[in-house]
Amino acid sequence: MILKGSFIIKEKGIIKDPNDIDWVYYWKKSLENKKDKNKDWNKFAGTFKINAKRDDYHDILFSKLILDENDSLLDLGCGEGTITIPLSKKVKSVTGLDSAEKMLEILNKRAKEENIQNINTILSDIEDISLESLGHYDVVVASRSLNGILPIDETLLKINEIANKYVFITFFGPENWKIEKDFKKYIKKDEQSFPEYNYLFNILFNMGIYPNIERLDIKNYREYDSIEEAMDNGKFRPELLNDDEKEKLKEFLKKILKKDNKTGKLYNENDKADWILIWWKK
Ligand SMILES: C[S@@+](CC[C@H](N)C(=O)[O-])C[C@H]1O[C@@H](n2cnc3c(N)ncnc32)[C@H](O)[C@@H]1O
Repeated sequence: MILKGSFIIKEKGIIKDPNDIDWVYYWKKSLENKKDKNKDWNKFAGTFKINAKRDDYHDILFSKLILDENDSLLDLGCGEGTITIPLSKKVKSVTGLDSAEKMLEILNKRAKEENIQNINTILSDIEDISLESLGHYDVVVASRSLNGILPIDETLLKINEIANKYVFITFFGPENWKIEKDFKKYIKKDEQSFPEYNYLFNILFNMGIYPNIERLDIKNYREYDSIEEAMDNGKFRPELLNDDEKEKLKEFLKKILKKDNKTGKLYNENDKADWILIWWKK
């Protein structure tokens, strides 16, 4: 029996102190149960920029970062440079690290085209970083790249060690998957969600890191020229759906997307990114 005012820990016993909750265990458990957590980012490299640019996330993020023109910056899970390239113009040097070769190829090509000299890239898993191999950086940024990381506690410790001045992480907010979750309900497919940002906060807190938390106020919803473009927005993962489910996704989007009479674009007000900024000063 669970006593009122008690908590279950690791599904085995009862605890009295909420600080004893093993958030790392629950983080791991959520991810282990999440069948679609692994994404082959190489396949999304070509379309990432257009999907990533559908809202004002970037501008809001840039307005929050505390940067100095003499800073060295490590961009973990940098992708194809949507964040890395503008950051390189604000600091002395940027190292972009990503496990997807195609993403880095596009980033390096863009840097070359723009004659940017202060970016270097490292092909690596974030989980494999270390102070010994990378050295210190003034600022570490992990924008939208830590959601599926295991082991999370060791990775956060290494990030904290590497940063001299600040760490900035953005993480899924509770409403990031609103319409995708509605679609899962529509096809009666109940799936495990990513761990919520309170897990990350509590894991950091238990490590003695007391971060600032801010929900980014992203203003605009996504817009599409066609249903097919909406299906391919990088979030519905049609590659994991069978033919019947793909048809149902089309049907679902036809139902929920409205047409803006002025622009002809398709949209739904709930189709909005929700990102939480978690940052701390060293
Ligand atoms: C959503 S994108 C974010 C890209 C960029 N930081 C931004 O905010 O626009 C996630 C990126 O993180 C990379 N990534 C995801 N998991 C990773 C891991 N474990 N190690 C290295 N890179 C990873 C992916 O390859 C992808 O480029």
